[in-house]
Amino acid sequence: MASDTAGKGGLEDVVATASRICLLDGDRGTLSYCGYDIHDLARHATFEETCFLLWHGRLPTRAELGDLHTQLAEARVLPDAVLRLMRQLPPADGMDALRTLTSALGHLDPVVADRTPAGLYRTAVRLTGQIASLVAAWGRQQQGAGPVAPDPAIGHAANFLYMLLGTRPDAESVRAMDVALTLHADHELNASTFAARVAAATLTDLHSAIVAGIGALKGPLHGGANAEVMKMLIGLGEDAPAERIDRQVRDLLARKVKIPGFGHRVYHTEDPRATHLRQMSKTLGQRAGNLRWFHMSERIEQLVKAEKGLHPNVDFYSATTYYTMGIGLELYTPIFAVSRISGWTAHVLEQVANNRLIRPRADYVGPASPQAFRALDTR
Ligand SMILES: CC(C)(COP(=O)(O)OP(=O)(O)OC[C@H]1O[C@@H](n2cnc3c(N)ncnc32)[C@H](O)[C@@H]1OP(=O)(O)O)[C@@H](O)C(=O)NCCC(=O)NCCS
Repeated sequence: MASDTAGKGGLEDVVATASRICLLDGDRGTLSYCGYDIHDLARHATFEETCFLLWHGRLPTRAELGDLHTQLAEARVLPDAVLRLMRQLPPADGMDALRTLTSALGHLDPVVADRTPAGLYRTAVRLTGQIASLVAAWGRQQQGAGPVAPDPAIGHAANFLYMLLGTRPDAESVRAMDVALTLHADHELNASTFAARVAAATLTDLHSAIVAGIGALKGPLHGGANAEVMKMLIGLGEDAPAERIDRQVRDLLARKVKIPGFGHRVYHTEDPRATHLRQMSKTLGQRAGNLRWFHMSERIEQLVKAEKGLHPNVDFYSATTYYTMGIGLELYTPIFAVSRISGWTAHVLEQVANNRLIRPRADYVGPASPQAFRALDTR
């Protein structure tokens, strides 16, 4: 039997499926969704167009995009029962809340068991609308404020910011959120997408597959890294002198502590998403008249690159981007999910359309078998 444990572990470089959704080249630092380069999508597409692309494999016509806007607008209105449940939850990590509330949405979905392609697609769209509303409402609850009803006249990124902040977002913030959502939408067989596909391959319901994805995304080696980046920067202090930054980063590297926001299993060069997020962090910092977080990040980037040859990943500059937009740290990883729900659902639809149970093998390295069984009082 071919063994990954005998090799590098962690299924590194193992090809687990064929997929038409996402192409990434870790040596050249390129990424495309269904053939469209991420740089073009970041510059020209909206998140809704990106969702349609991931779900259908092509860009929408104006009429199709209009239909999707309507469907998402309906989906953003959360069931009262979920809002009641949210109010009953104790203060918790945003991802824990999102996991529980997404699961609750499954209980309340009258067609949760509909696994026809049309039924799964409807649920994919509904969950994409609902998760943005859940994260926004949860964010407000952490501030002691009530949920803000979505506005059907504005797009997904604008709605998310409006429902979260309670005020009409300006065009620049909306564009920044739209680009951030587009950049995070899919990334081939990352850990959470793989988890969702493994669950979906058992022919469970879509909500269960997404809950599996949310659980995997939460970890600090995956989506949880963006909040860890900001905690690190805040820990260093907004006014940290260059020597303190250098000393602490060198110390972490010497102790072999993983610096959040750096390194990637697939990219060996610049993560193309980081290129946009670096620029966005800078632009928003300039607009806010505070470039200190950006400059601190740049210094850490240069140091980690020089000392360890590691590049920033998608999480590094998304941290200061969200921070400068006034978004609380507890929402950074949930915002990743607001976007990645599109990729998760696209992969689940693809998996189910041509399904085979995902069931790998393990190399047994335990005690020789059989061991003689000894009764409890003779051990
Ligand atoms: C993303 C990540 C999990 C990939 O892990 P991986 O492919 O298993 O890579 P490894 O852990 O085997 O690391 C390979 C080498 O790079 C180093 N390395 C990787 N990421 C590092 C980081 N963030 N900080 C410091 N060193 C790092 C490892 O220590 C190891 O060095 P060594 O060969 O001298 O021992 C890892 O880079 C990481 O933990 N990054 C920080 C968390 C993060 O930002 N996650 C979001 C990913 S999008």
